[in-house]
Order: sequence, then structure tokens, then C-alpha cells
Amino acid sequence: MDPVYFDNAATTPVDKEVLETMLPYFNSQFGNADAAHQIGRNCKVAVEDAREKVAKLLNAEPSEIIFTSGGTESDNAAIKGVFSALGPAGKTEIITSPIEHHAVTHPAEALKRQGAKIIYLKPNSDGVITAQQVKDAITDKTAIVSLMHVNNEIGSINPIKEIADVCKEAGVPFHSDTVQSIGKIPVDVKEIGLNMLSISAHKLYGPKGIGILYVKNGTPWIPWLQGGSQERRRRGGTSNVPGVVGLAKAMELSIENMDSNTGKFRKLRSSLLEGLKDKFPNQFVINGPENEGVPHILNIGFKSNTDQGLDGEMLLLNLDIEGICVSNGSACTSGATEPSHVLLEVAKNEALANSSIRISFGKQNNAEEVAFFLDKLEGVLDRMLKVAS
Ligand SMILES: Cc1ncc(COP(=O)(O)O)c(C=O)c1O
Repeated sequence: MDPVYFDNAATTPVDKEVLETMLPYFNSQFGNADAAHQIGRNCKVAVEDAREKVAKLLNAEPSEIIFTSGGTESDNAAIKGVFSALGPAGKTEIITSPIEHHAVTHPAEALKRQGAKIIYLKPNSDGVITAQQVKDAITDKTAIVSLMHVNNEIGSINPIKEIADVCKEAGVPFHSDTVQSIGKIPVDVKEIGLNMLSISAHKLYGPKGIGILYVKNGTPWIPWLQGGSQERRRRGGTSNVPGVVGLAKAMELSIENMDSNTGKFRKLRSSLLEGLKDKFPNQFVINGPENEGVPHILNIGFKSNTDQGLDGEMLLLNLDIEGICVSNGSACTSGATEPSHVLLEVAKNEALANSSIRISFGKQNNAEEVAFFLDKLEGVLDRMLKVAS
């Protein structure tokens, strides 16, 4: 039996249709999209068609779409690129939050060496930042506000339209990491009114190593990755043609099927929560929002009789032995011994942060897998609690 895969916020399997769309661009249409000959020109057409398609899906202009290597590059390019443009003019403050992905907080911290001051807005216990907090934090030195749309660990949703309104009024560029929201909740760049956003294909049944940085025309920004003249001189590097084509198809399918997938995730989440309440009453807490977040991410911490709490890493390994894949914190920090920076902010205490796991659904999951998970979790927790007491 294949493992039950409940780690779709970390990555997703490539959709069959996406893979089929990509395959010709690995061999028969293998050209360099900047080459003048026909094989190159065919690839250029494929890249530009994909650009038009994704622009339409986001309600952006094709000239505002820059293909990158994924969410991490897009986040780095957004923050460092705006800081390079505005820092020298004295705009040296970066407003963000402590529960952003490290692809945002680490480049921001790195900019301290160039004189940046980082202002971290504290999320509420559900992991949400308000537009008022942003308004209160903006000064005439603010270079950029970067706040994510959906949190990858706890599924909370920031009010990015309200935040964009505040930033627009203050004349401050607003970047949002929408890696976990594209294909899950509607994102229309004109309606929201933000300056920049980041997308990663592998979170929406597309390939790894490809993403988008949307940069609204007129945003003060200096290209971060210099090289060849690709992407209108805004991101050097030979175009990843199969990746770009796959990304566009993956975005199209995810947005087309968003409502039915969301309905499915809601059902899976509520049957999982019902099962947890039934089998483990008063023994777990939900980290982040119970109802107001995205339905495909659920983060739960287990209580134990000891001060240290239950060992989340051991829980994950025991579930893995039983054929279930979940994560504790974000995959990028797994293996590190310290608890997730997000859970340290929003969990009730450090012991609960340590004893938490994230379950994230994908469109391939079903009700039988939830029942299997609940059954195996009961045995694993029973053993672990006996050992811990
Ligand atoms: C919210 C968020 N931002 C950025 C990233 C990084 O994206 P990528 O893996 O494409 O570099 C991730 C991936 O875990 C994410 O969840």
C-alpha cells in the first residue's frame, strides 16, 4: 500500500495533465528560448503563451510576470530588489511578521548588514496581522511591507486587500508571499491592489524549481538576479521551458478546480476534527484558526502529562512507520532540533509547539485515508503517552 500523504503544504505530486504538457519540452522541443532558430523560437512562443495565461489567471499584465526558480527566489527578489531601489534614498525600514516563511525573514535579516531595520508585527493567537497594525507601523522610512497571504504551517489568512489599501494610501510597496494561497483562494492582483507577489508551482501539482514573481508596473524595484537578457532583463538565466509550461498548466487546473477541491478539503478536515474530538477529547489543541483559515492545513498539538510535552519528532517518525506522511513545522526546518518559529509565536506554550504536527490535504486524498490516519494515530499516541507518563 502506498503511504498516506498528508504533507501537501510541503509539496504536491505533479498532475498527470501537467506532466504531459511538459514532456515535449524536455526532448523534441528542447530549445533555448532565446535562440533565433526555429527550435528556439518554438520554445519562446511556449514561454510567452504561458506568461499570457498566468497573467490572465492573476488579472495582471504579461509584462508584470517574471518567471523565477520558485517561492524562495521570488521572496528574496521582491525584498532585496525594493530595498536596493529605495534604501539609498533613506527608506530603510522593512515591515514583516515573525511567522513569515524563512524565504522572507532571512533575506530581511540579511539586509540588516546594509542598514535595514526590520519591524516585526505580532500576529494574534490565530496567526493574523491586521491592516491597523500595518498602518501604525508605517513611517516615512518604510521601504516595503511583506506579509504572507496564507501561513504555510497553520493555514491562517491575512487580510491582504485591507493591508494593500493601507500601503497604497501611504505610498509603500506591498509584497505578499502567496505560495500557499494560489489555487486555494482567489487572488486577483488588480482587485487586491498589491505591488508584488510570489508563487511556487510545486505547491499546486506543478513541477519543483519554477515560480513567479509578479511586479506591478511602476513598482520601485531593481532586478535581483543579473545575467542574460531573459525576462526583459529582470531575471537572468536560460528559461526553464518545461517548468514554465508546467507551471501555467498547474495554475490553470488549480484555479479551475478550486471550488471543488476546497469543498473536498472542508469535508476531510471536518471528519478529521470530529474523529480527533471523539478519540482524544481534551487531549489536543488546534494551532491557528479552527474555522477561519484555509481548509487544507490543520496544525494540532498534543497534550501530555509531562512539562516537556509529547515529542512531535517522535510522533512524526512513528506515524511514518505506520505509513503516514505528515510534518512538524515547515519541511524546510525539519531536522533542526528547535521548534518551528511559527508555532513558538502562536502555540499556547513551548511544550505544545514541540508536540505539534501539520496535516495538509491534497486533491488526491480521500475519507478512507482520514479514517486510516485516526486509527493509526490512536495506537501511536497510546504507546507514546504510556512511555511519557
Ligand atoms: C509560504 C511559503 N513561501 C515560500 C516557500 C518556498 O517556496 P519554494 O519551495 O518554491 O522555494 C514555501 C515552501 O515551503 C512556502 O510555504
